[in-house]
Amino acid sequence: MRFSTIVALAGAVSSVQAIGQLAFNLGVKDNQGNCKSAEEYKHDFSILSSYTKKVRVYAASDCNTLEILGPAAEEAGFTVFFGIWPNDDAHFQAEQDALKTYLPNIKKSTVEAITVGSEALYRADLTAQELSDKIDTIRDLLKDVKDSDGESYEGTQVGFVDSWNVLVDGGSRPAIQSADFVFANAFSYWQGQTQNNASYSFFDDIMQALQTIQGIKGETDINFWVGETGWPSEGTAFESSEPSVDNAHAFWNDAICAIRGWGINVIAFEAFDEAWKPDTSGTSDVEKYWGVWDADNKLKYQLSCDFSS
Ligand SMILES: *[C@@H]1O[C@H](CO)[C@@H](O)[C@H](O)[C@H]1NC(C)=O
Repeated sequence: MRFSTIVALAGAVSSVQAIGQLAFNLGVKDNQGNCKSAEEYKHDFSILSSYTKKVRVYAASDCNTLEILGPAAEEAGFTVFFGIWPNDDAHFQAEQDALKTYLPNIKKSTVEAITVGSEALYRADLTAQELSDKIDTIRDLLKDVKDSDGESYEGTQVGFVDSWNVLVDGGSRPAIQSADFVFANAFSYWQGQTQNNASYSFFDDIMQALQTIQGIKGETDINFWVGETGWPSEGTAFESSEPSVDNAHAFWNDAICAIRGWGINVIAFEAFDEAWKPDTSGTSDVEKYWGVWDADNKLKYQLSCDFSS
């Protein structure tokens, strides 16, 4: 790891903001696999509100997320990163229709940003140029949409979220250039890291991604969040990575709290365990257990960070 680079970048970031913000990725299905109702979202927000007033969701039209969650979030005083699935034409069109129909029901200030695609480059669903074009499409669409106060959504930030490694790979450049912001995901767990090396690896990944984005944007003062990170509390080990509540808590302290201490914002993956996800073979049986709260809304470990050290 290029430690000197990391220290320099952290200094640049933390001079802008002392402690990074915290948000949560939020699932949109209940334990039975039904799309959440406004009441269920309100209950989620009441639990989350001691820790954050920001959530991220992955789509606008799936589960009618924008229609149902948007007003519930606004009422609870939350802001939302809304995702858009850009992968196939029909889905992308449905997402655009949802924006046009339901953004007028909420205030512009409730929309933290629009993220076009979630690891679309990592999965090679789109080329960087295709993603760039879709970011431009959404930015253009927003100019013609007004919020509940009649204010135009023009100027709302439109960007994307992808895995750190495809961001540092030069091929992502066209998408990074056209995005207003780029958030990086990094999962030490899926890199098979030991608990001891997990936070080192996380810092290294995120700092490489941040450095790449800052380089392409030509400035250090950028809107940047870790888009997803976390550690599962249950399931089968992946290489040297072992799921457990203790390891998830350790990753929270050593990686999430620590990088926030350096001024980097984090959207933790994820708020609640998703019991509806199917039991599958091999390592995918961790998929239900990424929540900081379990499926009964019980907090698995303390989330307080010690920023004094
Ligand atoms: C720790 O993580 C770094 C960065 O990902 C990696 O290069 C290194 O090989 C890892 N060390 C061990 C002992 O696994």
